[in-house]
Formats: sequence, C-alpha cells, structure tokens
Amino acid sequence: MSTADIGVVGLAVMGSNLARNFARHGFTVAVYNRTYAKTEEMMSAHGDEGNFVPSQELSDFVASLARPRKAMIMVQAGKATDAVIDQLAELMEPGDMIIDGGNAHFDNTRRREAALRERGLHFVGTGVSGGEEGALLGPAIMPGGSAESYESLGPILEAIAAKAPDGTPCCTRLGPDGAGHFVKMVHNGIEYSDMQLIGEAYDLLRRGAGIEPAELSKLFGEWNAGELDSYLIEVTAEVLGHTDAATGKPFVDVVLDRAGQKGTGRWTVQNALDLGVPVTGIAEATFARALSSGVKQREGTVDLLTGPTEKTELPETFVEDVRQALYASKIVAYAQGFDQIAAASAEYDWGIDLGACSALWRAGCIIRAGFLDKITTAWRENPELPSLLAAPEFTKIVTDAQSAWRRVVSTAALAGIPTPGFSSALAYYDGLRSRRLPAAVIQGQRDFFGSHTYKRVDREGTFHTDWSGDRTEHEM
Ligand code: 6PG
Repeated sequence: MSTADIGVVGLAVMGSNLARNFARHGFTVAVYNRTYAKTEEMMSAHGDEGNFVPSQELSDFVASLARPRKAMIMVQAGKATDAVIDQLAELMEPGDMIIDGGNAHFDNTRRREAALRERGLHFVGTGVSGGEEGALLGPAIMPGGSAESYESLGPILEAIAAKAPDGTPCCTRLGPDGAGHFVKMVHNGIEYSDMQLIGEAYDLLRRGAGIEPAELSKLFGEWNAGELDSYLIEVTAEVLGHTDAATGKPFVDVVLDRAGQKGTGRWTVQNALDLGVPVTGIAEATFARALSSGVKQREGTVDLLTGPTEKTELPETFVEDVRQALYASKIVAYAQGFDQIAAASAEYDWGIDLGACSALWRAGCIIRAGFLDKITTAWRENPELPSLLAAPEFTKIVTDAQSAWRRVVSTAALAGIPTPGFSSALAYYDGLRSRRLPAAVIQGQRDFFGSHTYKRVDREGTFHTDWSGDRTEHEM
C-alpha cells in the first residue's frame, strides 16, 4: 500500500529524529536504513509515536510512498549521498522528489538537481538546522528546488518546522536548485563567526578581567535576557556553568582548546572569495579554528613569542564594553552573511528574499537570536538596503557601540589577548565609513609595476602613468 506521506532514508540521530517529528505531526512516514538493524532499533524505541512504514528493501520503501513520492535523505554528505540518490532515482517516476537534508555543498546540489530534472524528478536540497534536538522538536528548514515541488512538500516541512514568535513556520522555499543549501552554508558561516566572537568575549573576561567560569556563566545568562538574547549565548552560559565530574574543575578548563570543523565555514569563505564579498568575520573565525588546531605552529612558538610584561589597565566599564563590542560585532557578522547571500542570489539568479531568510532564522536554528526580528523588519522595509548596517536601527546600534568597541579592541591588543573577530569587525566598520581608503596607493602600485591602469577622482577615463619614463600620464 502506497500510503506514506514522506519517507526518510538514513536513520542516524538526525534522520530518525526528523522521521519521528513527521510522525508526531500526523504524517505517515516510510523509513529505510541500509542496515536494517538500525530501522528495527528505531521502531522498537519510537514506533509508537506515530505511523511508520519500515522497509528492509529500498524498492519496498519507494513503493510505500504516496505519489508524488517524497524521499528525504539524511545520509553523510558526499559519496554516500550520490549513491543513495542514484538508487532512489532508478526506482522513482517523473514528478517524484528526492530531498537532501544534509549539509551538502550547493554546487553539488546544483549538479544533482540538474541531473534529476533531466529525468523528470525534483531534487530539493534543503538546509536543516537546530541539531539533534531541533530535528525532533522543530528545526529551521531552508529548502531550495522547484516551486512545483514546494507545493506538496512545503506544507509537510512547514508542519514540522520551528515556529517563530509570531507563529510563522521557520521554513520557506528560498529559491531554485542550490539556494537552500547555500543559505544553510552561510547560516553556518555566521554560526562560526558568532561562536568565535563569544569565545573572544569569554577570553577577554577570563584572562583579561580574571572572572571565573561560574561567574561568567551567570553573566552570559544575564546578557541572554537582554539585547544579546540568542541560542548561542544561552548555550555558552550552560557550558561555562558546567563542572567536570571527574576533576571537579570547570568543564571549559578540561577541554582541549582545538576547535574542530566539518567544513561549512570553510566553504562559506571559499565562496565569498569567489564572489568577492568581504565576510571578514567568518574568515577570521574559520582561521581562528585552524590556528587553534595548528599544533605544530603553536607548540613551536608558544615559549618564544613574548607578550606584554606589564598588567594592562582595564577600563572601568570593561564588562559592559565587551557586551557592546560583542553585540556590534555580531551584527557585522550577520550583515556580511546577508551580503554574501545577496551576491550569490544575483550571481545564480535565485531571487532570494532576504526578509524571508532572516524570518526563518528566528527560531529552530543555531543562529536564532532576538535581533533577527529587527533584521527581518529591516529587509522587509527596504529589500534594496546596500548593507544591513544602513538600516537606521542597525546604523544606530553599531555607531552607539563604537566607543566601547574601540576600547575593547585596543585593550585586547595592549593585553595581548587575540580578538580577530572583534578587531576585524571593527576594521570592517571603519573600512565602510572611510571616505578614502588606501586602495588608491594599491592602484598606484599596480600601475607602477604592471601597467594595470587606474581611474581618477576628477574625470572619467582609464589612465596609466609612464613610471619608468618621464612620468607623463596617458589616457588609455
Ligand atoms: C546546525 C548546525 C549543524 C552543525 C554543523 C557545524 O545548523 O544545526 O550548523 O549543521 O553543527 O555541522 O559543524 P562544524 O562546527 O563541525 O563545522
């Protein structure tokens, strides 16, 4: 009987939690895993939560789906994904759809979508954010793919998605082919940036101001009740407040300080370089993770490179300064991420609505934050904003924070505490507000050694100076 509204392939925690979420919302869910034992495991633990149709064979799984068939794959990104897509496509018929809910690279999604479209199948690459708990209780969902596929798939995804404070589901079709996975990639880039900034705030307050983790946990809890209200601040308060059972020490002191990464931050930066979008916060955050795990370089220099010998005097307002610098730098991170989405949307003709994108990040996802309401309003009021920082509310927030921000960055430099996130965000702010940048010198240098030409501030045209001759200027 072909009764299942949707199917899930791959029953590791994310897949099985999504399947349970569908079932808990009244959908009949077909489930399949390469190793059947995993399916049985899920069925015995959670089979009573709703209507599941388990299959041992992929052909039975496909046969159990109502048409148009919807199979969501939750397998490891990469080769495994292609193999599963091929097997499913063989068994499906025109009009059916394959949904990839993993963190796939958007280029792969574009390739897969084009190949399946040729065969009359829909391929929906979708970001799913919120971790394991989110998958079960309500993730933010970022689908791409055809408008036609969203007609029947959209309502199912929207039903299981997190709901924003105003009740709207955190799931919107973002655009064709790779749009959904692209937005999820940038979401993760912002996540990297945000996490790095919070890490720097911790470091400044711990090493700089000598505040202990338990105390910092309370402070982050307080911050979370104000304008910094966000999931990542909340999580940080939890992590800092946790005591290691084995040693009785603060948990944060027994964890090796080498940050891992699965690659989405790196992808974001690689793509930003291709598009020429300065996502400096995401780049610094990604490199900071690389530095933290660059064991050879760290071990080889830690005893050689000295820092300040005198204790740095902290401004009286230091704790509040750090809070404001964190808020302003976070806003820069989001602003840069939106710039990248806008640039990619133009490049790939996706038509991504930035207001819809920020609205769907308001709940369920890792970068959910109170101020996403304001960001949503800013894009909705003016989708043509040249930068989020040009929206009056955000202009005010970052300019009001600048004194504190400057005190924090200069104090950090004097104290020898690395703040690549705070510093680069402030440099970005100062870069944007500078009427003249030193790029004029760069243009002169380029023309000097490579005849790369330049433009002038006072008249139209392209020019070259005969640097090695009599230094006359020629219009090209
Ligand atoms: C989410 C997360 C999720 C995950 C990433 C990042 O939105 O639920 O972003 O996708 O945590 O895999 O992991 P790394 O830090 O390992 O790159």
